[in-house]
Amino acid sequence: VSNQQDQIIAITVAGGVGRRMASETPKQFLPLDGKPLLMHSLEVFDRHPAIGAQCVVLDPAYHAMIHTEAPWTSLSKPLILTEPGTERADSVRSGLRAVRDQAAIVLIHDAARPLLTSAMIDSTLAHAREGRGAIVARPVAETVKRADAGQRIAETVDRRDLWIAETPQTFPFELIWRAHERAESQGLALTDDAQAVEALGESVALCPAESPNPKITVAQDLGVVEALLRSRGEGAVAR
Ligand code: C5P
Repeated sequence: VSNQQDQIIAITVAGGVGRRMASETPKQFLPLDGKPLLMHSLEVFDRHPAIGAQCVVLDPAYHAMIHTEAPWTSLSKPLILTEPGTERADSVRSGLRAVRDQAAIVLIHDAARPLLTSAMIDSTLAHAREGRGAIVARPVAETVKRADAGQRIAETVDRRDLWIAETPQTFPFELIWRAHERAESQGLALTDDAQAVEALGESVALCPAESPNPKITVAQDLGVVEALLRSRGEGAVAR
């Protein structure tokens, strides 16, 4: 492992407790196509030639298992494990601290989005190599309404400029570090990482997702994702 800040490092946040899942097994370990949900993303990062190491933000109760048991031990790149925080943004900051002395560029990814592809990595990475942030995103296809206090329609929002933010969200390390530090000191509540960079006034590119990668939130989402996975082709390697 290099100690210089020259690596491209993937940080996967898997520290959520999944309260909406109503399941004994934490969401990140539920089986999807015969593998724990979390493993799907880790394998894509492991196979991608540009990525030098990865960091997983996960409850310390699982760290020993990841280091010693199958299927995790099949991962070939250096794996840094660190503990989560209260909110997603705290977990991301924990990951950033853990890779601080090694990372030139970081890709921040939700473990709850297992349909990661190497095309998503490439599209965001191209911007980060030029010094900008970039996120995978999806144009809004539905008609969007804003509600009033009485749950009646206040207005129809013009959807032409609206995008759904997904992950990976990829940044030069120095930029996302500075952005998250400032967001924390200002008490800014974040639901993604780009928002911290936006607050600095820096522009962040939107990279249209070429294939769906929905976030698994409730147990029923697993079936949908499994169907999407199978539709990509039996045993197909994510591009
Ligand atoms: O809760 P939400 O669906 O937004 O979580 C998105 C991702 O962030 C999940 O992969 C979850 O494990 C992670 N997370 C985390 N630490 C938290 C909350 C969420 O790593 N405190």
